[in-house]
Amino acid sequence: MPNILTDKKIVLGVTGSIACYKAVDLASKLKQAGALVEVILTESAQKFLSPLSFNSITHQPVVTSLFDTNSEAGINHVALARRADIVVVAPATANTIAKIAHGQADDALGTTILATEAPIMVCPAMDGNMYESPATQANIKTLKDRDIHLAGPEVGHLASGQTGIGRLIEPQRIVSHIRFILGRDGDLAGKTIVASAGGTRESLDPVRDITNRSSGKMGYAIAEAALDRGASVVLVSTPTNLSPPVGSTVVLVKNAHDMHEAITIESKNADVLVMAAAVADWQPVRSSGQKIKKSDKETWAVELTQTPDIIASVSSEGLIKVGFAAETESILQNAETKMKSKNLDIVVANDVSSEQSGFGSDNNDVTIIDRLGRVEETGLLSKYDVAWQILDRALDFMKAI
Ligand code: CTP
Repeated sequence: MPNILTDKKIVLGVTGSIACYKAVDLASKLKQAGALVEVILTESAQKFLSPLSFNSITHQPVVTSLFDTNSEAGINHVALARRADIVVVAPATANTIAKIAHGQADDALGTTILATEAPIMVCPAMDGNMYESPATQANIKTLKDRDIHLAGPEVGHLASGQTGIGRLIEPQRIVSHIRFILGRDGDLAGKTIVASAGGTRESLDPVRDITNRSSGKMGYAIAEAALDRGASVVLVSTPTNLSPPVGSTVVLVKNAHDMHEAITIESKNADVLVMAAAVADWQPVRSSGQKIKKSDKETWAVELTQTPDIIASVSSEGLIKVGFAAETESILQNAETKMKSKNLDIVVANDVSSEQSGFGSDNNDVTIIDRLGRVEETGLLSKYDVAWQILDRALDFMKAI
């Protein structure tokens, strides 16, 4: 299924930083996601990498000079600028940032940046002192004032051998920034979506929790798809191994009680709540402040009490409520019962006992049911594609309000 990067024309400007080897990976990730990637290599970048490295990945000519009569950019230096959906400079050296700030047009990248009406994103990579120098900081401010999107740099190991600020952000994060920019005017622009993710952890003592096997992937996929469609996204999540998509506001919580509090606050101004989190149904009646010693007991019966039902307790006034029904048997029947008892607009029924879908998997196979009686089976899809379909249904309800 298409995603926000499918068929997008991305001009990737690569400049002469040692980090430019990462631009090959970036070009590959963008191409794999379905984008058309056209690369401009500055003269310094060509000292590190050959055009062939990019050409082999993008299957597009690589622009190496403004005066190259074999390349389209040589003949018509604004051609790339005109057809670009976004121009990304990654890595961007201090020198290139200075040139962009001053509108210099002495190479193919400079002319493209001046001529384009598409959004521009710059990902700095340089030595920490160069980055922090007043000149570079002033140039970066100029870029920001002109609505150029800056992504990074981050703190980490630098080519000089030192650790500091100046490291190019990882290609996966650059892709996430690009998606955020390209999605801004999508069909959910102006809407706020709250998504919950992960499994809550109910503590028995400082080193022991009761939890479940939720990976958080479904909730993160909801956040990613909603951002791709222009929504403002609040992700209320337990700690997971996943990286939150660029543009999301993340509220980290541990247990059902904290998630309840966060969801209640965040839902007040939201249009849609999608509860993809696996919330513990019970929590220990007592949580010990000290580690419980083995010698204290031969057997241990833990007394549990029910947690609040978060989605049921949130007011549905002006809010589309989407719940999941994680089931292992009588799936549709149980899902419909949950929709009614929790006052949901949409319920997403999934069989969590299936190995191909459910907890931990990248895919899901669900049935989307709504309170108007529509029932739709998605078949086995990526969690991102399932998220897209859930949001389609939520959008239908928003239009009806
Ligand atoms: N949910 C919630 N608060 C809880 C428990 C669940 O908001 N304390 C939400 C889940 O995030 C999900 C929906 O309710 O969107 C259904 O969760 P599920 O675990 O399938 O159902 P339960 O209500 O816990 O019922 P049961 O475990 O008996 O199937």
